[in-house]
Amino acid sequence: MFKNASEASQVVATEIATLVRERASAGKPCVLGLATGSTPMGVYRELIRMHRDENLSLRNVVTFNLDEYFPMAPDAAQSYVRFMNENLFDHVDVLSENVHIPDGTIAEESVGKFCDDYESKIAAAGGIDLQLLGIGRTGHIGFNEPRSDADTVTRMVVLNSVTRNDAAENFDGLENVPHHAVTMGVQTILNAQRIRLMAYGEHKSAIVERTVCGDITESIPATFLQQHGDVRFLMDDAAASKLNLSNTSK
Ligand code: GLP
Repeated sequence: MFKNASEASQVVATEIATLVRERASAGKPCVLGLATGSTPMGVYRELIRMHRDENLSLRNVVTFNLDEYFPMAPDAAQSYVRFMNENLFDHVDVLSENVHIPDGTIAEESVGKFCDDYESKIAAAGGIDLQLLGIGRTGHIGFNEPRSDADTVTRMVVLNSVTRNDAAENFDGLENVPHHAVTMGVQTILNAQRIRLMAYGEHKSAIVERTVCGDITESIPATFLQQHGDVRFLMDDAAASKLNLSNTSK
């Protein structure tokens, strides 16, 4: 638990930078699973600062983003491709051929093949070393909405109405929010070596409590994280405010 989001973001960014540098000194790539939304922005800002001021290079980094709306043009204001370019990639030396984001422009009949290839590319890169996560108020991670089971992999999903409502402002109205998305699965996420989930603000406190202290259930996909051996939740006081840690054995 942290006083505020910026302290937590610094801790996560420092962990990433250490891992990237360790791998670089060993002549190895570092595979990062990246997230969008307001939550990880502080981590990206800090990585950009480290790149600028502390010689952090991301040339050995391979990235896989969690998800993208479908359909979605990469230059649209709500596109996660655009988000990643503006909030990280345009400001660091990551190689464009090492960047992977689900494609919101492909024909619907090709999505299945695209998703299989996405999984193969993650495997070919050696798996994800560190996965960043936010959490949606439905308990989704990536866009794995309620009823996403632990064995799900990258696929097309239908977005929950809570999720669409939460996105409505960004899209200038609910009617403009896509009904579908392409997302890594719960299993894809659980396969990562380390998982760092960040949650900030009072509006996340109920789902954080349920995720950390509740039973594991596919109706709250984030609860599957309890089964992972190296997962950390980094929260500000507001997001952690409903946790009664003396009541949890987890
Ligand atoms: C979207 C993203 C999730 C993200 C969630 C929360 O649904 N697909 O990956 O965790 O929003 O967003 P925010 O961080 O803005 O609260």
